[in-house]
Amino acid sequence: MKEVEIKEYCNRFRDATPQEVIRFFVSEFKGQIAFATSLGLEDQVLTHMITSISPDTKIFTLDTGRLFPETYDLIDKTNSRFNIKIDIYFPNTEHVEKMVKEKGINLFYESIENRKLCCHIRKIEPLHRAMKGLKMWITGLRREQSSTRENGKLIEVDENNNGLFKLNPLINWSEKQVWDYIEKYNIPFNELHKKGFPSIGCQPCTRAVLPGEDMRSGRWWWEMEGHKECGLHER
Ligand code: ADX
Ligand code: SF4
Repeated sequence: MKEVEIKEYCNRFRDATPQEVIRFFVSEFKGQIAFATSLGLEDQVLTHMITSISPDTKIFTLDTGRLFPETYDLIDKTNSRFNIKIDIYFPNTEHVEKMVKEKGINLFYESIENRKLCCHIRKIEPLHRAMKGLKMWITGLRREQSSTRENGKLIEVDENNNGLFKLNPLINWSEKQVWDYIEKYNIPFNELHKKGFPSIGCQPCTRAVLPGEDMRSGRWWWEMEGHKECGLHER
């Protein structure tokens, strides 16, 4: 797929529903496409859509080793609700051990460089392993989520991740659309969403936000806006 084709696809699917988009691309990229779920609210919507449309599609999560207990509980609940087994990828043991020995267990608070190193070892390396041999990953990104995502497209070439294609079926959805869908189909979601956590990542790097605050302001809250992508979605 070239830049021109990506543009064509974006135009063609401009008014399509996420289900229409998913149906087309899981067939077009059969055996070469996977869905990355962080068990966030958007990802729960996509799990429902993808398992209804194409139950064989690979669904995986990256367990950094530092997730919230609520997220681990939700993996189990999601597996039983949708009768699936989410593939769980872990970081390389030697790399984590070396990093922690050299820089400490909570190195991420010390500098952006340390934080990015931790994200690289705990998320990016496992992502590359999860996507080995595949061409397109599906994510739950939405434009509204942050200033770094406001120019996000339905399909993108992911230069940061080996030139994979990235499909973002919910890119134009609002938070309300996401909640409405969750409620309509009674989909299990992370309990932390009701406790002030609109965006949930690793436990040491995520905190609750106040009503009205930017939804990603609780992620890496000690860093400046604009730095707050971990390499999964850097532009
Ligand atoms: S992050 O880069 O800041 O962590 P965010 O939490 O907003 O990303 O999630 C955006 C999308 O990235 C999710 O919808 C999901 O597709 C993917 N993603 C994020 N974290 C993970 C994870 N731990 N495992 C799998 N996919 C993830
Ligand atoms: Fe490490 Fe925090 Fe990144 Fe998780 S979010 S991988 S704990 S720096």
